[in-house]
Amino acid sequence: MDIFDTALAPRGQQDIEWAERAMPAVMAIRERFTREQPLKGMRAAACMHVTAETAVLVRTLAAGGAEVRLCASNPLSVQDTVAAGLAVLDGIEVFAIAGEDRDTYFRHLGQAIEHRPHLVLDDGADLTTLLHTQRTDLLESVIGGTEETTTGVTRLHSMAQEGVLKFPVFAVNDARTKHMFDNRYGTGQSTLDAFMRATNRLIAGSTFVVCGYGWCGRGVAERAAGLGARVIVTEVDPVRGLEAVLDGLTVMPLTDAVERADFLCTTTGNEHVVRAEHFERMKSGIVIANAGHFDVEIDLEALARLATSQRDVRDHLTEFTLPGGRVVLVVAQGRLVNLAAAEGHPADVMDLSFANQALAAEMLALGRDVPPPGVHAIPEEIDSAVARVKLEAIGTRIDTLTDSQERYLAGWRTGT
Ligand code: NAD
Ligand code: ADE
Repeated sequence: MDIFDTALAPRGQQDIEWAERAMPAVMAIRERFTREQPLKGMRAAACMHVTAETAVLVRTLAAGGAEVRLCASNPLSVQDTVAAGLAVLDGIEVFAIAGEDRDTYFRHLGQAIEHRPHLVLDDGADLTTLLHTQRTDLLESVIGGTEETTTGVTRLHSMAQEGVLKFPVFAVNDARTKHMFDNRYGTGQSTLDAFMRATNRLIAGSTFVVCGYGWCGRGVAERAAGLGARVIVTEVDPVRGLEAVLDGLTVMPLTDAVERADFLCTTTGNEHVVRAEHFERMKSGIVIANAGHFDVEIDLEALARLATSQRDVRDHLTEFTLPGGRVVLVVAQGRLVNLAAAEGHPADVMDLSFANQALAAEMLALGRDVPPPGVHAIPEEIDSAVARVKLEAIGTRIDTLTDSQERYLAGWRTGT
C-alpha cells in the first residue's frame, strides 16, 4: 500500500460508517455477497475517487470474496482518512495520496494492477487505457470491466470503434439509475457545495453561468437557480440549448455570458471550453470552476500566460490578475471541483451508482451472460432492481401494471 498516514484510520472508519448508513442498496448487496461469495477467487482493480462512498463499494466487493486493490482516479479527490481506514482496518491494498503528483498518480495506477486483475473498475478509463498501452501483458487475465463516468464511456467507445478494446466493459454511467441521479442531483448539490466552501460567497442574486446542459449541467443549473442565482447556460447542441430555454434559463454564447458572470462552471467533458478570448472579456472577480471529469475544460495555461501575477487567496482558490487589474479566481486548479473542494456526491446518490457497479462486477465474475469485448449496457433488470431496492429503503411504493395494461402496451390492434 501507499497512503498518507495510517494513523488517520479511526477517522476514516467513522466516515465510512457514516456513508454506509445512507447506502441501503449497496448494504443489501453486501449482505447477500457475504452469504453467497460470488466474487470468490476474483482479483479486482478499482481506479476511483477515494471517498467514503467508494470505500463502501470496496468493502462490499471484498465481502463478496474479491481481493481488491484501489488507486485514485484523480489526484485531488483522495480522502486520506478513508484510504487509511480501508488499508488498516480492512486490509485493502490502497495506493492513493491526496495531492499526489502526476508521476505518483500513474505509479499508483501501475501498482493497482500488479496482482493481475480479473475485474477492472474504472472511473475515467485511465486504468483501462494503461492496460491497453503499457501493460498489455496483463490483459489476458482480465474478464471484464465497468466504467463509472460519461468521459470514460466516451473514451471506451472510441477504443471499441478503433477495434482495440480487448475486454467487455459495462457502461455503468449509462444505466438510468446512474446518470439521471448521480450526474444530475449528485453533481448539482456537491458542485454548489464546493463553490460555497471555496468562496463563502452568496449565490443569491448572482449570475451563474453553466457551460454544457447535459446531465451534470442540468443539475448544477437547477441547484444554482434554487439558491437564487440568475442562471445562464451555454451549449453547442441545439436541442440541449432549446431545452435550457424551455426550462426557463437564459442561453447565449460564452463570449457574451462571461461579461455578466459572477460564477462559472464547466460541465461538458470537452477541452478548452473557457479560453483566452473568454478570459479577456470576463467581469473582474468572477469565480470559475470545472465539474467535468478531466482538468482540460478551462485553459489554465492561457490564463497563466495572460496574467501578470497569481496567488492563492483561500484554500482551493487561486487569484489571477490580468493586465489592467481585473482578477479571475479559479477553484481547485480547474480539477473536478465537487471532489477537490468538497466531498463529492452524497452517499445517498452514490448508493445507486455503486449498486450498479457491484452487480455488474458480479455478472462478470459469475461468467453468466458475459458479452464479447466492447462497451455494453447494464441490463434493464439490474437498473430496475436498483431503483426498487432504493424505493423500498426510502419507504416509497409504486403501482404495478395490470395484465390487461401489459397486453395493451404490447399490442397494436387497439387504436382510436
Ligand atoms: P453529457 O454528455 O450529458 O453533457 C455534456 C454537454 O456538454 C452536452 O450537452 C454537450 O453538447 C455540451 N458541450 C460539449 N462541448 C461544449 C462546449 N464547448 N460548450 C458548451 N457545451 C458543450 O455529459 P454529463 O453526463 O453531463 O458529463 C459531463 C462531464 O462531467 C463528463 O466529463 C463526465 O465524466 C463528468 N462527470 C462529473 C461528475 C462529477 O462528480 N463532477 C459526475 C458525473 C459526470
Ligand atoms: N463521484 C462523484 N462523487 C463521488 C463520491 N462521493 N465517491 C466516489 N465517486 C464519486
